[in-house]
Amino acid sequence: MQLSNEFPPFRHTPRLPGWDQSLGLLADPYRFISRHCRLLGSDVVQARLMLRPTFCLTGVRAAQLFYDPEKFTRVGAAPEPLRATLFGKGSVHGLDGAAHLHRKRFFTAAMAPEYLKDLLAIAEQSWQPMALQWQASPRTELYGASQQWLMRSVCNWAGVPLPQDQLTRRTSQLVTLFDSAASDVRGHLNARVARLQAEFWLARLIMDNRRGLDTLRERSLSWAAARLTDNEERLLPARIAAVELLNILRPTVAVSVFIVAAAHALHQHPQWAARLRGGSVQDRLAFVQEVRRFYPFIPAIPARVRHDFSWEGHRFDAGAHVLLDVYGINHDPRLWSEPEAFRPERFIGSTPGSFDFIPQGGGDSHTHHRCPGEDVTTSLMALAVRLLLEQSHYTVPPQRLDIQMNRLPALPADRFLMSDFKPA
Ligand code: HEM
Repeated sequence: MQLSNEFPPFRHTPRLPGWDQSLGLLADPYRFISRHCRLLGSDVVQARLMLRPTFCLTGVRAAQLFYDPEKFTRVGAAPEPLRATLFGKGSVHGLDGAAHLHRKRFFTAAMAPEYLKDLLAIAEQSWQPMALQWQASPRTELYGASQQWLMRSVCNWAGVPLPQDQLTRRTSQLVTLFDSAASDVRGHLNARVARLQAEFWLARLIMDNRRGLDTLRERSLSWAAARLTDNEERLLPARIAAVELLNILRPTVAVSVFIVAAAHALHQHPQWAARLRGGSVQDRLAFVQEVRRFYPFIPAIPARVRHDFSWEGHRFDAGAHVLLDVYGINHDPRLWSEPEAFRPERFIGSTPGSFDFIPQGGGDSHTHHRCPGEDVTTSLMALAVRLLLEQSHYTVPPQRLDIQMNRLPALPADRFLMSDFKPA
């Protein structure tokens, strides 16, 4: 009998030892996939996570595969605990095809350069009054301080009313969504409660606005969210509109994670702090890109196999869960020379590819699920770096600066404390 050439020989996809590896993933969420892929000598390995068989993918070719919408779907991909806290149920993250493209347009339009300019102007203006408050206390924790700065700025930009006496409470609700969702049981339950409260807050503003009250600034982003339709032109339920408005407010406040990382990098690399003081926009962007590559934030992205297929000899079964290794690809020695060294120079004069530099996802942000907020993120980071270097004086007191790689998101243990803060 002669074997047909049509069928590539199936390679055995290595399986991780043990019954379920969820605890191993939680113990080292950022390095879990790349470590096991390296140990087993394959860019595709099979694990059992949260009791579900899951393909773990690393490497640039696997990233390209992951963004093929013919092969993978996002419907039902994110586990319920993540949808009930971080993303919100019914959000753009879990849509496919025409429904996804239609919803995505709201985000890509909102991030257009002319609107981004307004956000940056608002953020720069709100720095000074906040800096005066930080000056009043002997120590300021940058993580918390920058969250309030970002919350005040993004709500103002999006036309969401936020009275001063609600700033702390509302900021804390949004922070709980990304900072506690993947912690212990209590933290996770807090994140579920915070989601209910935050959705209720925004859904009420949206419903009142739909009834003709001027609860949202006219023509603002929140006003547009209140008028969001699905791809068949039906008005979205107010709760889903609130979920999507939160998908702008929450991640903007989460830029605080990268601002802390940037301050950490300025402290660890004083030669870069000196170079950036009064330095060029190009240097500042290269620094910010290296912060996004080097520091951990999102460990992996989930999807599901749409239908049976094989790739490089690995057989993927319809319905199987898949995780793409975000942190591992940003640290892959096949893509980055000395990946564990912090070297912003690597971004000067070179534009990263769509699948090898994926701190906020890969592919195309208009048609794929790639994050639409990358320009917002890099611009706010670059602004914070400039304001910290050129419009602030502070000292970095003795503290624990080690990055806690076993928490999500990973942060310096003391959240970056500054003392003797003074606006310049
Ligand atoms: C704080 C830094 C940020 C990080 C690390 C981050 C990371 C990510 C990642 C990994 C994804 C998933 C990509 C995928 O599924 O392929 C994503 C999606 C998304 N991000 Fe971001 N993001 C950030 C900031 C932002 C900002 C500032 C906004 C909006 C103002 C935003 C809005 C979104 C939305 C709406 C999606 C869903 C896109 C879709 O499913 O099509 N993100 N982000």
